[in-house]
Amino acid sequence: MAAEFKSAISLKPMNTFGMDVHAARFAVFVNETQLQQQLEALQNNTDPILILGGGSNILFTRDYPGVVLKDEIGGISIVDDGGDDVLVKAGAGVVWHALVDWCIEHNLGGIENLSLIPGTCGAAPIQNIGAYGVELKDVFHSLKCIQIKDGSKSEIFAEQCAFGYRDSVFKRSMKGKMVITSITLKLSRKHRLNVSYGAITQELQRMGISNPDIRNVSDAVCNIRRSKLPDPAILGNAGSFFKNPEVPGNIHEALKKEFPNMVSYPFGASTFKLAAGWLIEQCGWKGKVVGKTGSHKDQALVLVNYGGATGEEVVHLSDEIRASVRAKFGVEIEPEVNII
Ligand code: FAD
Ligand code: EPU
Repeated sequence: MAAEFKSAISLKPMNTFGMDVHAARFAVFVNETQLQQQLEALQNNTDPILILGGGSNILFTRDYPGVVLKDEIGGISIVDDGGDDVLVKAGAGVVWHALVDWCIEHNLGGIENLSLIPGTCGAAPIQNIGAYGVELKDVFHSLKCIQIKDGSKSEIFAEQCAFGYRDSVFKRSMKGKMVITSITLKLSRKHRLNVSYGAITQELQRMGISNPDIRNVSDAVCNIRRSKLPDPAILGNAGSFFKNPEVPGNIHEALKKEFPNMVSYPFGASTFKLAAGWLIEQCGWKGKVVGKTGSHKDQALVLVNYGGATGEEVVHLSDEIRASVRAKFGVEIEPEVNII
């Protein structure tokens, strides 16, 4: 069947910031064959192509002038069962939290700390999603993808992904070159709970649970997240707008001398991660409303759309926040969100 593209489609319901923009051309794909047909039809196309998952890590600053292809490839299955270790494959369009739930229901541990992260499985490797002491890389086995330029299929294994904090090869040399169609994770029936993140221990105590299982950890993480992060269905946002900056030991020491309350964590052999939320709060931005946008009242790192904001307004606010953090602390904070 020939590929069909719709024209002038509103992307407002497809991005969690709720930006009111349109795609010049748009199509959904539900399997690899359909995607290959669409890519073939676009072979002589010179317009840009954007692969869209749940739109929860994107800030649109204008109408998209090219073709948006929305990934809705479904399906979750066990592809290798070694007893304790199990390989689970998920279609790239599967909602990430649905995979977390499916794994918990099947008694498979490893991603319970990543509960309730919005978006799709296909986008998870792009920034190596992470939360509460776990990152995707800790369980990632491989992914399948299709090259945009010629529709050919490849498989990419964990060691080729150059995963780092909110980083991977897909944000660098492979950026915009391929479409992820499925991911495979290595999970376990022998659960190794990670409750090292202080807030999880406190929440489990509050819930009255002393001997937690993976469902309890997932519930604790969901509770913490619901208490801190704004729900995009109510207030437009894309989670943390900035990454937590990393600084070398000597800079960290000097900053700590000047700002003894600064929140930071050792990260790697001689570097430290600073809590960007703290830096932004100290600059007076937390809860501040600027026109139709602002920094959230409970989590300064989250920029929000109070309704009708444009992407340009959010970028302007983010530039001002970056400038004030630079001026007060001499530290550069980089956006985590993909600005388009
Ligand atoms: P999209 O926003 O649709 O796309 C993100 C990028 O991936 C784009 O560049 C897009 O082109 C590309 N892409 C998407 N799908 C594919 C594909 N199939 N093939 C190739 N490229 C693709 N992130 C965390 O890491 N930890 C958190 O704790 C966290 N909390 C959040 C809380 C809230 C309230 C919100 C709104 C966001 C949060 N995020 C968090 C960010 C976001 O959930 C993740 O980055 C998520 O992986 C994005 O998935 P998505 O499907 O929405 O991707
Ligand atoms: N803090 C403040 N003021 C604030 C916010 C935070 O002082 O307004 C300080 C507090 O001391 C707090 C510390 O910063 O204890 C850390 O805050 P939090 O636990 O909320 O985590 P974060 O560093 O702000 C990161 C991720 C989140 C992830 C959480 C939990 C980044 C950029 N963000 O946030 O991911 O859910 O940890 O692991 O690394 C996302 O990527 O979109 C995201 C939400």
